[in-house]
Amino acid sequence: MTKAGTDTETETPLLFSPLTLGGVTLKNRVVISPMCQYSAQDGLANDWHSVHLGQYALGGSALVFCEAAAVEARGRITHGDLGIWSAEHAAALKPITSFLRAHGAAPGMQIAHAGRKASMQRPWQGHGPLDESDSARGETAWDIVAPSAEPVSDGSLMPHEMSLEDIATVQQAFADAAGYTDDAGFEVLELHSAHGYLSHTFLSPTSNHRNDAYGGDRAGRMRFTLETVEKVRAVWPAHKPFFVRISTVDGVEGGWDVEDSIALTAEMKQRGVDVVDCSSGGIAGMATTTRDPLPLGFRLPFSDRIRRDNDIATMTHGLILHADQAEEILQAGQADLIGIARGALYNPYWARHAAHELGFDPGFDDWPDQYGWWLTRREAHLKSIGAR
Ligand SMILES: Cc1cc2nc3c(=O)[nH]c(=O)nc-3n(C[C@H](O)[C@H](O)[C@H](O)COP(=O)(O)O)c2cc1C
Repeated sequence: MTKAGTDTETETPLLFSPLTLGGVTLKNRVVISPMCQYSAQDGLANDWHSVHLGQYALGGSALVFCEAAAVEARGRITHGDLGIWSAEHAAALKPITSFLRAHGAAPGMQIAHAGRKASMQRPWQGHGPLDESDSARGETAWDIVAPSAEPVSDGSLMPHEMSLEDIATVQQAFADAAGYTDDAGFEVLELHSAHGYLSHTFLSPTSNHRNDAYGGDRAGRMRFTLETVEKVRAVWPAHKPFFVRISTVDGVEGGWDVEDSIALTAEMKQRGVDVVDCSSGGIAGMATTTRDPLPLGFRLPFSDRIRRDNDIATMTHGLILHADQAEEILQAGQADLIGIARGALYNPYWARHAAHELGFDPGFDDWPDQYGWWLTRREAHLKSIGAR
């Protein structure tokens, strides 16, 4: 077990103390949470992904997650989603993982299948199901799959209910994706089982109304996810950390709740999952841009509860804005890792600025030489003229 402890001997802020998970040591606790860019062509990474992800390594984050990458083409949310279903996809990602590692960040991949939330428009192109306006641009809709033939909401695309053969095919695609992820040089893998995407829809009683072994009671609804965890873990190297992102609660009447997540985590832990990335929501709408006025650190109670009840490392994210806030979370033992998403879009150097706020690395030693050499001297100069 590798949960965070207080690093009182060195007085290093916990946010900047290393964490070893299996054979990988993260240099600090700041994680760039996966963020879809909807900017790939046929699922292949390009210069956008290189620069987008590369900036977070330069910005000092210990673990940089790539956006959700689909394990098969029909599992993409949009035509612009990244994919990880062939050697070609892995090859396109390899220069990115090399760059991240060269600059001190562990490269992380999130493998995903959008299920009934596939075949959508990019957020800035409407955020609804693909329609004629998209076909006119050459982006046609495709058939989507789910545990049951029920749409996300009125007006959404109708998925077809997966047969046992469909289930086996998709699970094999997850296992293959784990192999491609390893080939591409990633050091951490996360299975996306949250936000209303395929694996989550098997878990939730609001979206899984199957009568076979993959539905019914909680054990039946967990079967798809747990089998997928087993198949992925069998391929993903034993020394490389394995995360699963879950929606700890659905937040809807009669939905999946925290007690279910505790039961699921116990099973996942037995199957070699190292970290539970505690998200929430998304079963019937958006997980991140909800209408509710969510408070800062709104997912913290979930990572806290799972960490304590399951004695497993957790990651939290969701409106963590400040260095002090992140440090307090770690000191209170409410999570082991701090995920930053929109905060990193606003400030890709979130981690380095947080370090300075907490008095860590005042000499810019962890910065790339290309920047640190200048900043040390600028700092000395600013002090000499009383501007610091
Ligand atoms: C642009 C964008 C894309 C996202 N894409 C993903 C994704 O690919 N996978 C995922 O699990 N969550 C995704 N999320 C959710 C974030 O990882 C994170 O959980 C959420 O934004 C809350 O953290 P924040 O308040 O720091 O933004 C995305 C969020 C944003 C803003």
